[in-house]
Amino acid sequence: MSQSVEIKKGVYWVGVVDWTVRSFHGHTYSTPRGTTYNAYLIVDEKIALVDTVLGSFGPEMLDKIREIVDPSKIDYVIANHVETDHSGALPELMKLCPKAKVIGTQKCKEGLYKNYYGNWDFQVVKTGDTLKLGKKTLTFIEAPMIHWPDSMFTYCKEEELLLPNDAFGQHYASSHRFNDQVDSSELMDEAKKYYANILWPLSSVILRKIDEVLKLNLPVSMIAPSHGIIWRKNPFQIVNTYAGWAKQETQPKVVIVYETMWGSTQKMARIITDSLIEQDLEVKLFDVNSSDRTEVFKEMLDSKGFLFGSSTHDNGMLPNLAGFLALLKGFKAKGRVAGVFGSYGWAGGAVKEIEDLLKSSGIEVAVGSCSAKFVPDEKETAACVQFARDFAAKIK
Ligand code: FEO
Repeated sequence: MSQSVEIKKGVYWVGVVDWTVRSFHGHTYSTPRGTTYNAYLIVDEKIALVDTVLGSFGPEMLDKIREIVDPSKIDYVIANHVETDHSGALPELMKLCPKAKVIGTQKCKEGLYKNYYGNWDFQVVKTGDTLKLGKKTLTFIEAPMIHWPDSMFTYCKEEELLLPNDAFGQHYASSHRFNDQVDSSELMDEAKKYYANILWPLSSVILRKIDEVLKLNLPVSMIAPSHGIIWRKNPFQIVNTYAGWAKQETQPKVVIVYETMWGSTQKMARIITDSLIEQDLEVKLFDVNSSDRTEVFKEMLDSKGFLFGSSTHDNGMLPNLAGFLALLKGFKAKGRVAGVFGSYGWAGGAVKEIEDLLKSSGIEVAVGSCSAKFVPDEKETAACVQFARDFAAKIK
């Protein structure tokens, strides 16, 4: 069994590593590298636990706490977030320390009650409220919509430690706890995937919160999120990276996502891909039916160009691309350029349906569309090449 880890003097990681979980958030997020649920025990004259873990891992968290203190000695449980991957073990914990005060935002109080119906002593806190544990003081910062209405950050000034719950997290299981111990490209890949799939729709709120927290001028030497690896080496690297993602900064890169029935739309996708590469653009090509959607959204996060292709079926697009685009609409992507292509047999329809959906998603369709009847002939192939060239001109 893995051990607790002292991450700062008197502050212990007592979370769990979920090595085998392969999907999250009701299968909307694939987790090929697993995840962790991070809980932190702060030991001073008073003892506080910041967050818990997924309910099924409660016994493992309690074993880690027991390495340090008897759980009955816990005075405060700080609930930064209601979602059950961080609060699931709370009912089990509260049986062992029934007099402990649970601390969180008003929305957290309401959410925890509606999840667990616990009759716990709850203290509602607001931004700037503090809790003295002895030598250490905790300050609370409300962070609504990062990523739920109840979300909150906890900050310990004496240890220069920020505990921002889901923000800056990654679904990344590891035998290590700190960013200077793991492969940095793997770590940043997971951080990017996490931002794209969970936080992208909330970018404007995140940008404002980053600004607000930076203006507080809090010394921070460690950022310990509730999932994955703790940022102790150059912790502001991830804050600055988040600022770029939240501003929706993009690269001259094109993500192409298509769904094909008998291969003609796929053929068009490959012609367009090769033509874009000839224009010196970075391209990522995905067949929606054989791709990990979580990975595709990660690639789209910093891509200036989006291209979508579908064969026509019943006068519209194929169903799995439709599902993909419905999710994309919720992401509120800004500053992107899109184009559409597709094949048809009897009558078209897919291309127009995709264009209409993109427009209603606030995504600019910059160069119209490109179609082919059955298998693209010479003229239609040339049209795909020209479509790609026109699109590349908009991206560069
Ligand atoms: Fe990791 Fe919003 O829960």
